[in-house]
Amino acid sequence: MKRAAILISGRGSNMGALIGAAREPSYPAAIALVLSNRPDAAGLARARADGIATAVVDHTAFGKDREAFERALDTSLERHRIDLVCLAGFMRLLTPWFVRRWEGRLINIHPALLPQFKGLHTHERALAAGAKVHGATVHFVVPEMDAGPIILQASLPVLATDDANSLAARVLALEHRIYPLALARVARGEVTIDHPGQGGAPVAPTG
Ligand code: GRF
Repeated sequence: MKRAAILISGRGSNMGALIGAAREPSYPAAIALVLSNRPDAAGLARARADGIATAVVDHTAFGKDREAFERALDTSLERHRIDLVCLAGFMRLLTPWFVRRWEGRLINIHPALLPQFKGLHTHERALAAGAKVHGATVHFVVPEMDAGPIILQASLPVLATDDANSLAARVLALEHRIYPLALARVARGEVTIDHPGQGGAPVAPTG
């Protein structure tokens, strides 16, 4: 049984989906910690209500020293003997130091079909681009933002009547389905990065 931490900055609906899935006795990971960089993140209260250990590492206390902030994150993860880290609406960019330290054990959910629409405001950008298909991606985290090897994706049609809110709500429902499936696959060792440290770059064909 792997011990997973969920890193959040906000409401934590994906966190809730992971906690719900991990209640199943056959699920291969236990949610051992919910960690937030914001003391006021709504998801913290929800995690506590579910009996999950919580911690706050407030990034504002570290000024511009991102590595000091991340060393504090790392200390908290080690203290709780964490094996796998799930980013779920965690709104801090992580340095290569932290990403390399956890590479292969650090996953994220992104509200778009990567490699399309990296970064923020994905639903607005999908609509502006006239995308007919949109969705969500769970991927391993590598130093380059939203660029790591893809673990699982789910897609849906963009409707002519969609605005950013309606699209976000339908994509969020997909996120809640695929994040628990992706974490389970990683926890069971069914999906791994082939070449940690190289961002899972595919090996060039030799034949
Ligand atoms: C989700 O859309 C997730 O894909 C993105 O941030 C949002 C977090 O929402 N990375 P929640 O806090 O899980 O409700």
